[in-house]
Amino acid sequence: MDIYQAFQNRQTIRDFEQTNGVPRMLDPALVNKLIQAGFSAPTNDHMRDWHFVLLNDLEKRSQLVSEVVSPISQKRAENIINRWGLTDAVQREMYLQGIPRQFSMLNNCGCLILPLYRQDLPLLKPKNLSALNYFVSIWLCIENIFNAASAEGVYGVVRIPAPEESKIVKTRLNIPANYEFPCWIALGYPAPDTQRARQVSIDIDTRIHQNQW
Ligand SMILES: Cc1cc2nc3c(=O)[nH]c(=O)nc-3n(C[C@H](O)[C@H](O)[C@H](O)COP(=O)(O)O)c2cc1C
Repeated sequence: MDIYQAFQNRQTIRDFEQTNGVPRMLDPALVNKLIQAGFSAPTNDHMRDWHFVLLNDLEKRSQLVSEVVSPISQKRAENIINRWGLTDAVQREMYLQGIPRQFSMLNNCGCLILPLYRQDLPLLKPKNLSALNYFVSIWLCIENIFNAASAEGVYGVVRIPAPEESKIVKTRLNIPANYEFPCWIALGYPAPDTQRARQVSIDIDTRIHQNQW
């Protein structure tokens, strides 16, 4: 697939194809190929010190996810969004779709991945922009994975872990203290009735400025 087409096709999917309640899993060779695409991303220190924990034993996955993420009802999602004071209709729609699916998307995807990067200094107390380079680099890697997946007809979503969630997951999975995961990556084949979230329309000519803003 043409790279521009892969970019355009990439979309967030939170409902994954299932058969009798069992997710359609990704072929391990395809997962390797996608992670290989991730390793093509640029990195600040040349080292690509990244690891990937695959959580595809469905029983163990479900145990871990149930420990750290709670299902949220549509009604509660609406209350949360109202509390945030969101007014944009498209944005509200996205959160209304997204919030109640945080639990199911991790459980039902065809491949759940924890991308890990080395973070020797405290991430949340950066002294300057360079201190964020390791965090930024892993996100470039993650973006490559999503675009490569899109070229393969595979889509998914990221979830940013809450601080306590990170701690528990790291302990349960034996992750070294100086490695962090910026997000969960849930990938899979879209459920048949899945629709892309309505998008905010952007005229990029209003976003490109010549020589000065
Ligand atoms: C940095 C970042 C954090 C995100 N966090 C979450 C998340 O915690 N849970 C979730 O369901 N989606 C999350 N998303 C997915 C966004 O909701 C989604 O990318 C956005 O609505 C645009 O839709 P699209 O990806 O279909 O173009 C995140 C995306 C990004 C880039």
